Amino acid sequence: MSFFTSQCEVVLKTSFKIGELVVSPPVLSAPMAGYTNYAHREMLRRLGGVGLISTEMASARAFVCMGRRDGEEPARLWGVREEPRPLLVQIWDNSPETLAELGGKLAHEFRVSVVDLNFGCPAPAIAKRSESGSFLLRDPEKVGKIVERVVSACAPVPVTAKIRLGVTRDMINACDVAQAVEGAGGAALTVHGRTAKQMYSGVADWDEIAKVSDFLKSIPLVGNGDIRTAQEAIDRLENYPISGVMIGRAGIDRPWIFREIAQILRGETPDPEPTPREQRDLLLSHYDLVVERFGVELGVKQMRKVACHYSKGIRGARTFRDHIGRVKTGEEFLRVVAEEYCVDDSDEDRSDVPAV
Ligand SMILES: Cc1cc2nc3c(=O)[nH]c(=O)nc-3n(C[C@H](O)[C@H](O)[C@H](O)COP(=O)(O)O)c2cc1C
Repeated sequence: MSFFTSQCEVVLKTSFKIGELVVSPPVLSAPMAGYTNYAHREMLRRLGGVGLISTEMASARAFVCMGRRDGEEPARLWGVREEPRPLLVQIWDNSPETLAELGGKLAHEFRVSVVDLNFGCPAPAIAKRSESGSFLLRDPEKVGKIVERVVSACAPVPVTAKIRLGVTRDMINACDVAQAVEGAGGAALTVHGRTAKQMYSGVADWDEIAKVSDFLKSIPLVGNGDIRTAQEAIDRLENYPISGVMIGRAGIDRPWIFREIAQILRGETPDPEPTPREQRDLLLSHYDLVVERFGVELGVKQMRKVACHYSKGIRGARTFRDHIGRVKTGEEFLRVVAEEYCVDDSDEDRSDVPAV
């Protein structure tokens, strides 16, 4: 908990609980489809500092259908059975039964730490065509029914929910949805401070996130949206009535941000940013993991976008992105990284390099 002591000194929040699970530091990595796969999660674990790591969202319907057909598992669940805990797995659909079937499997067979329900995704394939994700924000009662059914399938593994403020600015109803989630047995709630209509435009409204805390009786509230630096995470933890923060895009560009936050929360001076050489090594380890799982062709395709994110802020990033975005083979990928990812010793100090 964070609170003001009698001397009015701010005591930083250092942990919170989701059910029996202690989340320490109180910082979650966000679920991000297409990015937060096993390789990314493994890089986060190596760097340290995330209190609870999230998977990308997995389709409950796809899992249930594939399992019934041939016992296969969707690529989005890569690593989930074996990787270290704690681990939050996010799932989506609009059917309480289907979600309960996958949730129950994840809780009891895979033994994940937390099952999270997606009520925030605004992508047309999810919200329009599948009437799932943020579409469900229109109907807090249905959200409650889903949470209740999944909670009973997963018990004692905690079930959480991730939502947006509402569907549109005129329909902000995060408080109603929050009450539905808590009333149905949800163990924590994350609020991304945008509406579904906003997609990723505008800015996250943290004052609206804060309002939700008045409507929750006892479960933790996690705030999410637009945290770009370690100091911003600390400021949110200090100044908003939340138990934790969740970070998405900044953790793709700078996966070491979590380590920085953890060090500040422990009262330590944060390590300097990894040098370009260290970043290049991280990128290559990430590449190895992806290629091991998906093969070179698919792996290179995935890693082109990952490499572009890692390179934000390095000297020559624009040229690097231009070239890496066009590589087709593993050899080309490795050559462009070796030749262009700023490995010259004179580039080690990036303090004067503007972010792009
Ligand atoms: C490429 C991309 C994929 C995302 N995938 C998911 C997802 O699978 N599940 C989810 O709940 N949110 C997803 N989000 C939303 C993020 O989890 C997060 O709420 C949002 O990016 C705001 O946080 P940030 O400003 O820290 O990135 C995604 C966002 C992006 C940009």
